[in-house]
Amino acid sequence: MLVEDALRNIAYPLLRFGAYSAHAFLLGAAVYLLLVMRPVMATVPAWEASRAAVAERLEGLVRACLLGSAICTGLTILLQAALISEIGDGEVTSESFSSVLDTTFGLFLAVRFPMLAALAILLLGRIRTWALAGVGSGQGPSKIWWAGWIGLSVGLMLTNTFSGHATVATPRWLALSNDGLHLVSGAVWFGGVILMAVLVPEAWRGRDKGDRLRVLAPSISHFSIVAIISIGVVTVTGMINSLLHVGDLSDLWDTPYGQALSIKLLLFIGILVLGAMNHFVIKQRLNKAMLKLNSPGADAAAIAAEHVAERKLFRRAIAAELVIALAIMASTGVLTNLARTA
Ligand code: HEM
Repeated sequence: MLVEDALRNIAYPLLRFGAYSAHAFLLGAAVYLLLVMRPVMATVPAWEASRAAVAERLEGLVRACLLGSAICTGLTILLQAALISEIGDGEVTSESFSSVLDTTFGLFLAVRFPMLAALAILLLGRIRTWALAGVGSGQGPSKIWWAGWIGLSVGLMLTNTFSGHATVATPRWLALSNDGLHLVSGAVWFGGVILMAVLVPEAWRGRDKGDRLRVLAPSISHFSIVAIISIGVVTVTGMINSLLHVGDLSDLWDTPYGQALSIKLLLFIGILVLGAMNHFVIKQRLNKAMLKLNSPGADAAAIAAEHVAERKLFRRAIAAELVIALAIMASTGVLTNLARTA
């Protein structure tokens, strides 16, 4: 019984956390490349070495996420089979696996494997050469490649929706579509935060302070728009999710599901505060610095030196956002493992 409880209360949330994070990153990375990294790198077309380093780092992250999702999914099926076998004679047999795969939950987990294989074929070895190919020249990888990447990643995200609480909420169509939108918008933000923290410093590695400013200021400006839209959608869909899954306001502190949701909400407030600081303080100051930098006869080193504080502030804020983003995913892993109260 003790082992069974440990599996239910610790292993499942951890595996969900792993799968959410991996799927969200895969989707968010494509959107980030298209809307932030490619436009920013197009402003510095001569930085070939930086482009290559960024693409190499991204390839590694994508590889880790594909592997991470496959491991989390395989282990979830294995655990589920082990729990089913507990009901019988305790032995995990091929029948325990068939019983898992016969359920909607098992089916939507199994469907991930062909999707992951297709993504691996599409992305591995190609991100390195294609992700930032043709920036500044108006050319790049084909639209089909991007559509395949985004489509398959959305599909992976939706396997969470179709194997979770949304399938039992009413009205079902609203719960499923709202949850799908919640996941996709959350993924765009989540992937973006990770890449702001990892790729932006990679892009400016070895460059002088003026160049760092040239990458940081437009990255924050572009990501700010992506973040405002995605967080706006996450907020509305998150509220609808809460109305669909929480029976009463007092459940927010009286029940385990409500408590997990309350923790998620507190973490979300942290995101809003950091986002506001990025948007209203750091972005505004860096935009002013860029105006000075682009004026004729500007002393790039002196302007960059004046704005070192903003760069440091950005690094701290993005590190904090990264920690909170992972904590939100972890709290969601716990949340979706608990009984909803509606
Ligand atoms: C950037 C912030 C957020 C991210 C990344 C995020 C991510 C997620 C993810 C991955 C799921 C799992 C969906 C599934 O398995 O089908 C989820 C579900 C949920 N989220 Fe969020 N979320 C965020 C913000 C919010 C906010 C602000 C609220 C409330 C206002 C909220 C309320 C919910 C609820 C109630 C669920 C349903 C859980 C269930 O199926 O039982 N989320 N979220």
